[in-house]
Amino acid sequence: MIKKKLEDALNKQSSHEAYASSSYLAMASWCEKEGLRGCAEFFYAQSEEERGHLLKLVKYINEAGGHAQVSAVSAPANSYKNLQEVFKTGLEQEMGVTQDINKIVELALQEKDYAAFTFLQWYVQEQVEEENLFRLTLDIIKLAGKEDRSWLLVDKEIGALKDEEEKEEE
Ligand code: FEO
Repeated sequence: MIKKKLEDALNKQSSHEAYASSSYLAMASWCEKEGLRGCAEFFYAQSEEERGHLLKLVKYINEAGGHAQVSAVSAPANSYKNLQEVFKTGLEQEMGVTQDINKIVELALQEKDYAAFTFLQWYVQEQVEEENLFRLTLDIIKLAGKEDRSWLLVDKEIGALKDEEEKEEE
């Protein structure tokens, strides 16, 4: 049976994952309107993944004897200065989620909720991958500026990152 403190913390985390999903959806829409179809696909896929993270939490909380709650999600930013700002915001968001996850891992150990601790290991690993992915996108954008490469190429390379990620997971 899940400990109450863990139930509350995981419910709070599920609202962070819901916010991430909605924030990446807004980024996808911004990219699409800017004609950056590769980046738009990147964020549509990222938004779906975050919904997956949310569902995983909902199912775990209920399976462990708690009650998963759905709460209101605040509106994300819908406009950005440029593509770099979009991906920088994404990276900062992921770094925030990593901190949130780490705090819940510590709580699971304090509360001796080893089932929750084990469940959370998937999120710990996922955050390493998510942060790395966003750093890669920022490297691509930075290099493009130095080498004066076209935005079309940047868009294509970022769009391909998600395909590579999916292949690695197969
Ligand atoms: Fe579910 Fe990207 O954190």
